[in-house]
Amino acid sequence: ANHADLAGRRVVVSAGGTREPLDPVRFLGNRSSGKQGIAIAEAARERGAHVTLIAANLEVAEPEGCDIRRVSTALELQAAVTEVAHGADVVVMAAAVADYRPANVSEGKIKKDQSDDGLTLELVRNPDILAGLGHAEHPGTLLVGFAAETEPDDDRIIALGRAKREAKGADLLVVNRVGWNEGFASDENRVVVIGRDGDVVTRAHGTKQSVAHDILDVVVAEVTAVTT
Ligand code: C5P
Repeated sequence: ANHADLAGRRVVVSAGGTREPLDPVRFLGNRSSGKQGIAIAEAARERGAHVTLIAANLEVAEPEGCDIRRVSTALELQAAVTEVAHGADVVVMAAAVADYRPANVSEGKIKKDQSDDGLTLELVRNPDILAGLGHAEHPGTLLVGFAAETEPDDDRIIALGRAKREAKGADLLVVNRVGWNEGFASDENRVVVIGRDGDVVTRAHGTKQSVAHDILDVVVAEVTAVTT
């Protein structure tokens, strides 16, 4: 790749997975390691961009040379992204955001009740951060979403990706298959990138670093097309 093709661009990347507290010691979380998002942040920086990384509970080391904002919950991630997205050339939402959070966060540790044999948690919906960005508020910002799907079938994954890109108003949607042994903790990834017409713009597989550069190749083409 051309390693100065994002020079002068401002890129925002969210990475990792949000945690939603139940009480002072417990949370609802997910298995996103943050590796793919970090690889994108690093690759964008290598290609000359100014990168702000919104880091949600990363399981790997933070990259060098990026502005880093640490967040934990979906609401914190939303506040951070919304603040830095203004005027950005690209926003990549690679973070796995909890769809729901506990309706009530207990002040003290939730205790077992000896008399019952179960516990029901009430959850409320978190806002959809990517869908909430939108081109009305962010004209000229390329919005890139991710979708982690557990469907085994490739065509089905692509169909889900098309629908998700539309629903969220993203310009590009990167779909990857995740499961017990694929995607999240792994050092490799296999993705399909869906474009504005719903077509498959690119397919990439390999290390998360090489996949990051392949995704950025598409981003660069789009950003360049928008501004020239
Ligand atoms: O709907 P789903 O969670 O599959 O969508 C994934 C994409 O949407 C990712 O880009 C993720 O960062 C983003 N997302 C979000 N806010 C949510 C849930 C997901 O921005 N509440």
